[in-house]
Amino acid sequence: MSLSRHVDPEDIVDHLQHTHVSEALGVSSLKELSSTHLTPYNSRYASQVRIPKYKMPENGTSGDTVHAMLRDELDLDGKPNLNLASFVTTWMEDNARDLMLENVAKNLADNDEYPAMMDISERCVSMLAHLWGVQSGEKAIGSPTVGSSEAVHLGGLAMKRRWQEKRRAEGKGTSNPNIIMGTNAQVALEKFARYFEVEARILPVSKKSSYRLDPDLVRENIDENTIGVFAILGSTYTGHYEPVEEISRVLDEYQEKTGIDIPIHVDAASGGFVAPFTYAGVGGPKWNFELPRVKSINVSGHKYGLVYAGVGWIVWRDESYLPKHLIFELHYLGGTEQSYTLNFSRPGGQVIAQYYNLIHLGFKGYREIMENCLSNARLLSRSLEATGFYTCVSDIHRPAPAKSKAGAVTEKVKEAVASAASSAVSGDNKGKQGGTSTISVPHIGEDTSADYVAGLPVVAFRFSDEFKKEYPHLKQETVSLMLRARQWIIPNYALPPNEDATEILRVVVRENMSFDLLERLISDIVEVTEQLMEDDKVDLSILQKQKRTRPDERRKARHLGEKQGAEKMRANIADETKRMAEGIHRTVC
Ligand SMILES: Cc1ncc(COP(=O)(O)O)c(C=O)c1O
Repeated sequence: MSLSRHVDPEDIVDHLQHTHVSEALGVSSLKELSSTHLTPYNSRYASQVRIPKYKMPENGTSGDTVHAMLRDELDLDGKPNLNLASFVTTWMEDNARDLMLENVAKNLADNDEYPAMMDISERCVSMLAHLWGVQSGEKAIGSPTVGSSEAVHLGGLAMKRRWQEKRRAEGKGTSNPNIIMGTNAQVALEKFARYFEVEARILPVSKKSSYRLDPDLVRENIDENTIGVFAILGSTYTGHYEPVEEISRVLDEYQEKTGIDIPIHVDAASGGFVAPFTYAGVGGPKWNFELPRVKSINVSGHKYGLVYAGVGWIVWRDESYLPKHLIFELHYLGGTEQSYTLNFSRPGGQVIAQYYNLIHLGFKGYREIMENCLSNARLLSRSLEATGFYTCVSDIHRPAPAKSKAGAVTEKVKEAVASAASSAVSGDNKGKQGGTSTISVPHIGEDTSADYVAGLPVVAFRFSDEFKKEYPHLKQETVSLMLRARQWIIPNYALPPNEDATEILRVVVRENMSFDLLERLISDIVEVTEQLMEDDKVDLSILQKQKRTRPDERRKARHLGEKQGAEKMRANIADETKRMAEGIHRTVC
């Protein structure tokens, strides 16, 4: 038997389907099958006919059948609850979900038709403006968006227009605008620069700057053509908050010297719903409208705003910062409405759910959830470090520099976690819970986020230096792949350019990460790592290749013709690998 023969599964399926239908069943039985319909699984699509995937079928089929087929296909997706790669909400209360479903047919663009929904949207904007420290006398203005990307683009565009208007009024050129951001910026920020023709000055982040925008580099890179600075709260990679107040001070000094006034837009995609509620805040300094230089802030309602995907927010501290030129007056759909979004039609249910959360949870409810998330993230960080296998790149579990109390708390916690983790590593608990090693998490006491370095509830971790020395050939990505087999989705990727020699595994701790789930996760990470250590010859790099040859890619390759297609596919893989090696991982979300 030849073992090295290349097998094309699509050819086999095509061939078998053809013979199966025409020889075994014949055309008449096919017709029969298409007309009987007892359950979705005895329709003709159950085994005889392939549903066309890339061209619309001539004839439709029953809703039950399609529903069953789609549901079954979608079962192949990961479980959102275990998707620890994403900041986006994967669980909502039934009341909120009901409200969303009841209003799913409403279009947020139809102001006149849905005045109650529009009122609710305005109330959300007002609450956010207050939450973010809008000053008395200011008339905050804002809008719901589809997410933070749209909101960032609107914030950037307003800064560009204001800069252009000012320059024109001074008789100066407007052809070379630039914007400042760190290499840790999410793709939405770079997209703004590219789509709206602004030079992106993307400044390197470093260990020294805690992988955040470095105020010293901001000072060196601004000039009269700088439309603004994007500051991120917090970084998608490691959860660190950027030093908005320090950056603001740099811009103050620059203005004193040159008279040039450069605004800040804060991309608080995640942090906008974390920092205001936590005891830690951003660790002391200011970041929001309390700083006069911060003119606009965005947040994703669908991240720590705790709403399902599809809502973001942008708020300007005062209407004077949103150039009139960007506001469209639409005489449409039966009335006059003002529009300053990129999208017109968009779902309204998410906005209603956002309002539900705001008034149902209130400040205290959000505070408890965010403190829980941070507490769980700290526990995960410490447990990982206590194993000795890992070290954290994120800092939220480290004592806040100015808190003396934290030292004592941390010592207590360290001891507790070290003993729990060592029993997991040594397998002391084996047998107690179905033969798996588990960490029984001790009660830790009454510390709050204020005792620790401020940041998002994100745990970014890597193999410790000692571990790497002992097991130099083990790849961190293998841990991610093996955890995937246990259904956890935990990405492994390089830090931004300049620091991209460091790869991190990253866990986003969301509301639904319960204590039980956390215990399970810690045990699984430990078990998987031990498995690798025991059988350190295991090479799972083959799984990486598998990931990249999906059926649709194979099909595309076939469309392009065998040879040309295969070459192109190989080139794509090589390109992807190269981009990853270059640290271009901006699909991080
Ligand atoms: C810092 C930051 N900005 C912007 C975005 C884009 O947000 P959205 O997915 O809501 O468009 C993200 C997404 O993760 C983010 O982390």
